[in-house]
Amino acid sequence: MKKWFAVIGDPIAHSKSPFMHNTWFHEMGIDATYIPIHVKSEQLEEAVAALKLLGASGWNVTIPHKESIIPLLDDIDPIAQKMGAVNTIVRQNDGSLKGYNTDGAGFVHALEEAVGKNKEKKVLMIGAGGASRGIAFALQQYGYEQIHIANRTVSKAEAIIQELGEGIALSLEQAEKQLDQYGIIIQATSLGLSTGENKLPISLDQLQEGTIVADIVYNPLMTPFLLEAEKRQAKIVTGLGMFIHQGAIAFNHWLGQYPNTEKMMEKLIEQLK
Ligand code: ATR
Repeated sequence: MKKWFAVIGDPIAHSKSPFMHNTWFHEMGIDATYIPIHVKSEQLEEAVAALKLLGASGWNVTIPHKESIIPLLDDIDPIAQKMGAVNTIVRQNDGSLKGYNTDGAGFVHALEEAVGKNKEKKVLMIGAGGASRGIAFALQQYGYEQIHIANRTVSKAEAIIQELGEGIALSLEQAEKQLDQYGIIIQATSLGLSTGENKLPISLDQLQEGTIVADIVYNPLMTPFLLEAEKRQAKIVTGLGMFIHQGAIAFNHWLGQYPNTEKMMEKLIEQLK
């Protein structure tokens, strides 16, 4: 029987996930479909019951439901539990629902696909919101040992560092001054979104040539932060890889196969141009 999958969120019309998963189904000869469903916060419980009743094999969860869906699940992966957020639901053989978070691991896969493994390098994460939390836990899980988190509100960076049990929290000003210490810099604030303010969270004056600089925003593909880093001869990692790999890891949870991410990168770059 044809399988079906979905992404639920509010808003949802802009999501590239249906295109991505349907392309993979087609390429891999899988008889399945993936649809976007607009679900408002107050409809979440009913929507989950409906997805279950109508036999969805799994679905993705995006803003604003990543935290609020957790109590509606039967089981949760320990890493997602630690992150306090879920973006992928798997309907298990007995019909129960298990939640995973593939965002952080998606970032690490994308980083390593773009520039290789660099676990010995010191990492600076800028931002301490939900996205930063997920990435910080994933970096730790994958063996990155030195993680510093800088945030406008330092106490939020401190809270993540405390949960990690290692690393350093700092202010944006401190990070700016010691930028030359870091081998990997990750822009994980909400600045840089195409609708957001067009400014950088920190100055890149001290950036060393060859530093790996990543952004989690992929629309625009080259954020103001990445454009500035590129001018200073950094190695650039756009947010698109994270988006593709979070989807690929979800796909693998559902179907036990890892789809082709490099070909998808070319297709999505074409669309975002
Ligand atoms: P997400 O879940 O996408 O990570 P979030 O939880 O709202 O989003 O977090 C947004 C992040 O961007 C936070 O680190 C925020 O800094 P504060 O914790 O100090 O609010 C950061 N951010 C947003 N606007 C910013 C700005 N103008 N300058 C610096 N940091 C900013």
